[in-house]
Amino acid sequence: MRFTRYGGPEVLELAEVEAPHAPAGQVRVEVRAAGVNGLEWKTRQGLLREVRPLRLPAGVGGDAAGIVDEVGVGVTDVRVGDAVFGSGRETYAEHAVLTSWAPLPPGVCFEEAAGFATPFETALRVLDDVGVRGGHTVVVNGASGGVGSAAVQFAVDRGATVVGVAGPSNQDYVASLGAVPVVYGPGLVDRIHALLTSGVDAAVDIAGSGVIAELVALTGDPTRVVSIADFTATRHGARVSTGVGLDKTHALREGARLVAAGRLTLPVTRTFPLAQAGAAQVVSASGHVRGRIVVTVTDQRRQP
Ligand SMILES: NC(=O)c1ccc[n+]([C@@H]2O[C@H](COP(=O)([O-])OP(=O)(O)OC[C@H]3O[C@@H](n4cnc5c(N)ncnc54)[C@H](OP(=O)(O)O)[C@@H]3O)[C@@H](O)[C@H]2O)c1
Repeated sequence: MRFTRYGGPEVLELAEVEAPHAPAGQVRVEVRAAGVNGLEWKTRQGLLREVRPLRLPAGVGGDAAGIVDEVGVGVTDVRVGDAVFGSGRETYAEHAVLTSWAPLPPGVCFEEAAGFATPFETALRVLDDVGVRGGHTVVVNGASGGVGSAAVQFAVDRGATVVGVAGPSNQDYVASLGAVPVVYGPGLVDRIHALLTSGVDAAVDIAGSGVIAELVALTGDPTRVVSIADFTATRHGARVSTGVGLDKTHALREGARLVAAGRLTLPVTRTFPLAQAGAAQVVSASGHVRGRIVVTVTDQRRQP
């Protein structure tokens, strides 16, 4: 799946291209499913062309799960035929190169694991950015989406009390992840204060919904607030975390360990065949995905 010009979902097209090869230190997978992240529609739309210029035509996607079918020089922890999930490039494809990976946890299907990489790495990164640990109270704004679901469960696993901010239809879901659910919208600070007997130690803004001032008011300290999607955060003294260029291996393994232990889950709420990747991105861009959505990949030449 690729695009030759920036634009709406209609610029995505299926194309027959040479399969990539695994450079040293990387692996190639036969992709079974690819996770759908906000970064992908933003990139396709051209919103990131200033910071991450692309040479067009460009492929799409970053997360995937599949079977290793080529191993780059120097890779020793995985073999051809192993089932893995991970992060790489142009993963909405039959074959893609992964730069970070981990074995598929037992009992987890390719579709579910396809959505793991970005949420796991991002969630762990932001919790570490604001030093969340056992006994802390942390607010997760955007708790019901991919990154938010992972952040809630990683924080609960650390022994933190988590306040999960989400829409009215996701309150039960957020509670099922182990958080105290709160509805977003005006009055957020008062609603959270009313729920807690002690203060808020840290806050992570996943949704980028313009609440940095409220999160700073809750923590009383802007350095305890981080956002992954609101670039105005720095105006309030809070941080923006991008994670560009970081090795994700540790986060993927840590997430897989918790999944295997039954302490972390990231439900796939919708799947789309590769040819409908544009429709998947439209749903992603709506900003109200619960858990994760994925694109499933079969050999397109064999489709009827
Ligand atoms: N900087 C980085 O490293 C990085 C990494 C990954 C993702 N991101 C960005 O971070 C954002 C979130 O990613 P994601 O994958 O978690 O997205 P997602 O799976 O699409 O989830 C978005 C969530 O935001 C919630 N939401 C919508 N409006 C809200 C509001 N006003 N207040 C609080 N929550 C609200 C939605 O909840 P309801 O359905 O309940 O409304 C939904 O669950 C995207 O913009 C993405 O591009 C950045």
